[in-house]
Amino acid sequence: MSSKKTIVLGITGGIAAYKMADFSHMLCKAGFDVSVVMTENAKQFIAPLTFETLTSNPCISSCFERNTDYEVEHIALAQRADLLFVSPATANIIAKFANGIADDALSTQALACTCPKIIAPAMNTAMLENPATKRNLKTLENDGWIVIPPDSGLLACGDIGAGKLPSNETLFSYAEFALSREKDMKGKHVLITAGATQEAIDPVRYITNHSSGKMGYALAKEYMLRGATVTLVTTPTALEPIPFLNTLAVNSAEEMFLTVKDHFMKQDIIIMVAAVADYSPREKADNKIKKADSDLSIHLKRTTDILTYLGEHKKPNQFICGFSMETENMLENSRKKLQHKKADMIIANNTKTEGAGFKGDTNLVTIITKDKEVELPLLSKADLANKIVSQIV
Ligand code: CTP
Repeated sequence: MSSKKTIVLGITGGIAAYKMADFSHMLCKAGFDVSVVMTENAKQFIAPLTFETLTSNPCISSCFERNTDYEVEHIALAQRADLLFVSPATANIIAKFANGIADDALSTQALACTCPKIIAPAMNTAMLENPATKRNLKTLENDGWIVIPPDSGLLACGDIGAGKLPSNETLFSYAEFALSREKDMKGKHVLITAGATQEAIDPVRYITNHSSGKMGYALAKEYMLRGATVTLVTTPTALEPIPFLNTLAVNSAEEMFLTVKDHFMKQDIIIMVAAVADYSPREKADNKIKKADSDLSIHLKRTTDILTYLGEHKKPNQFICGFSMETENMLENSRKKLQHKKADMIIANNTKTEGAGFKGDTNLVTIITKDKEVELPLLSKADLANKIVSQIV
């Protein structure tokens, strides 16, 4: 039997049906086994052959197709499905699902599936806002469906308003969330800081460092996929925002400190991944701005050490983890940080080691706690995030 997770992709008769060609391909490329079930109206917009070619599976649109062994297959598929994902969903199919009507292949599947179900409505704004559609969507939510809120914008009918199908990336993140991990962190509140702080010298210039934010984002995503409620406190980065997080934007070390301080009491786990500046300009050097850069003298003051603050104010059962960036004596210096900062864990990396550190997609770390040290091999930041979360568990 295949170890791949099975997604039944239900497609109904809206113009956004054409976008499902790319979406089904995206799911297949990510390693899912995708079977498409289309309504008759969906076939007016895009041909079943497109999906059969892209998914390498038969595309089902009728309960009575004679040329397949589908009479058996339609229940087998519902039983095999790990996820039913209906997109785009018309007002009509939403009404059928909400009322348990099973008069075609897709509505029959929906009734027979016991797996998680996600639905992405897409239609004209007036239809979406019609009390019947709103009522039906509420019913689906009460029945346990996850309803993806439609985007607003220019609709295919020429109207501007809510009803657009969200991007395939957004749809994908819902599927990934539903299927990719055990939800072993459900109920946990986790705060992660990421990126490089920016310390303003004047309204134009700032001091920063090379941190890309990748490690912090990878950890935030891992916790999110495992069901935690995640707050990500991030400085500006070049990374794609991660859905389903409470993302709080900050610039300076001081802003990061105040934001973390505001939120840390509610958290079970706090991980300081951000590369926080140890010093920031004492006063804005506005009066110096007209001088040549070489003349610019900056007076520095120490920033608050956020990790130390957390270590000193931590509540019982809270877990505090920091990262340490070392250029030499990595283990010795990191052990000292574990002690001085009263952290429960320090993840140490040596910026001079090939493949480790700030910018790249990989990292090489040693996890240090009071009782043990675990040296991990060179891993992608995503795989490392998985290992770190499991160590903390
Ligand atoms: N950190 C912090 N607040 C600061 C500076 C650092 O919370 N003002 C946190 C970092 O997010 C990291 C840990 O402390 O989790 C260690 O950071 P690192 O830069 O390695 O050490 P520093 O304490 O800054 O000491 P040094 O730069 O001298 O190595």
